[in-house]
Amino acid sequence: MSMITPIQFVPMDNELIATATGRVVILVTPDGKMNLAARRANRLCKGAVARLVESDKFGDVKSGQVVTLNWPAGLQAEALDILILDKRATKTETRKAGAALAQLKGSNPMLVMAGSLRHAAELGFGLALRDYTFDQHKTDDDKPKPAAVTISHSKPDEMSADIAPLLAVAEGTHMTRDLVNEPANVLTTTNFADRLAEMKKLGLKVEVLEEDALEKLGMRTLLCVGQGSDSPSKVVVMQWNGGEKDAAPLALVGKGVVFDTGGISIKPAGGMEDMTMDMGGAGVVAGTMCALALRKAKANVVGIVGLVENMPSGNAVRPGDVIRSMKGDTVEVINTDAEGRLVLCDIMWYAQERFEPAGMIDLATLTGAIIIGLGHDNAGVFSNDDTLCNAFLKAAKAQDEGAWRMPLGEGYDKLLKSRIADMKNIGGRPAGSVTAAQFLQRFVKDDTPWIHLDIAGVASIKGNTTYAPSGATGWGVMALNQLVQDQFEAE
Ligand code: BES
Ligand code: MN
Ligand code: ZN
Repeated sequence: MSMITPIQFVPMDNELIATATGRVVILVTPDGKMNLAARRANRLCKGAVARLVESDKFGDVKSGQVVTLNWPAGLQAEALDILILDKRATKTETRKAGAALAQLKGSNPMLVMAGSLRHAAELGFGLALRDYTFDQHKTDDDKPKPAAVTISHSKPDEMSADIAPLLAVAEGTHMTRDLVNEPANVLTTTNFADRLAEMKKLGLKVEVLEEDALEKLGMRTLLCVGQGSDSPSKVVVMQWNGGEKDAAPLALVGKGVVFDTGGISIKPAGGMEDMTMDMGGAGVVAGTMCALALRKAKANVVGIVGLVENMPSGNAVRPGDVIRSMKGDTVEVINTDAEGRLVLCDIMWYAQERFEPAGMIDLATLTGAIIIGLGHDNAGVFSNDDTLCNAFLKAAKAQDEGAWRMPLGEGYDKLLKSRIADMKNIGGRPAGSVTAAQFLQRFVKDDTPWIHLDIAGVASIKGNTTYAPSGATGWGVMALNQLVQDQFEAE
């Protein structure tokens, strides 16, 4: 497990500037106003900051950008980072500025002279989110070690209180990234379940259901996906009961395909290695449960993940096979590569039967079609309930995580008709993400408010994003945590 950057708030003290090692950060407004700390730094560096502010170049610098003076005279630090930030910067703008600082930080300690910056906790949060590397499998001896960040602020106690729940979310997000980045020979179904069981330490109730138990429950569609693999299929149930004793929980349900070869309907070789991220839905569920437990959320939330590996073998499910789901409906498996929905339909049914949840949200790297539709900036959002859906979209917006609502409808549902069973597992090429969602909706009870999040395009991205280096993003942990806070917590 990678550790998150330790971040500490200390009282304002301009004496720290001259002697700090690593990097020192000062704040200047876009119209060139310096706070006391910035003025002190300017004096120590013989007016270098003022020269920047007075230069023509300063006119082109926008709020949120950083100008670095390397090896500045008068300081012991190896760099003075001048963060240009509007006094009225919003939470999101301040968080982004923190993420920009994280990219400069490397393995250096950093001292941020934040003065009385309003959203300084968000600055620290952005730093912690973006200060992430997945280097466990690099054998290099001198890997950068996470170095601490000190933020000097006029209200250190208030800021420390503000940042505590945010760092819980950063930790949950990093947990999701670690899981999603991990290769499939390491993150087997068993290893995944073991890591989730570790979360008992955080006060979560964790149960691991093995194949014999799943067989007894009748989860045949889930089991058929894993039957070609040597790794045993598992379902893990994580409960956080921080709310009223008998309040119905929110259920979070995740697709955890640790590797998706496509099965007998095998995928082409090019890019197949990316299918290590096909457990992204389960990864987000785990990271969210971690965040909720760490910040001791006053809500009841249950996380349920289906952990399977989709492999071809002499024992694998074939195209044409008919399988009975836990609900009782039969499915004709036309394409063994449309396996995510087979996993989800059983655990969604189980979630409703066992927990009678107040709401249910499933997350899955479900379709390539959602990437064609929305690219990597937005997850697809499908829902049977406008109230819950709008609350989620609002939470995602507040957390700067892209989410875009997609349609459902009877016309799409008809495409799943099967000649010999109750339904087929694919609906053909048109609207591939919608027919996948439509398949899932057949396993949602009419009175369960439900959201399906297709995260195939946002779970892992080839390039850097604002809050994450290339690879796993942790998309969704922040939005779901916000939704829980807005809709499911007392106070
Ligand atoms: N895991 C894939 C979807 C996926 C594709 C995730 C690209 C991330 C990146 C899913 O199991 C799958 O294979 N879906 C098929 C469905 C099709 C057979 C109806 C797809 O999208 O091609
Ligand atoms: Mn597949
Ligand atoms: Zn898949």
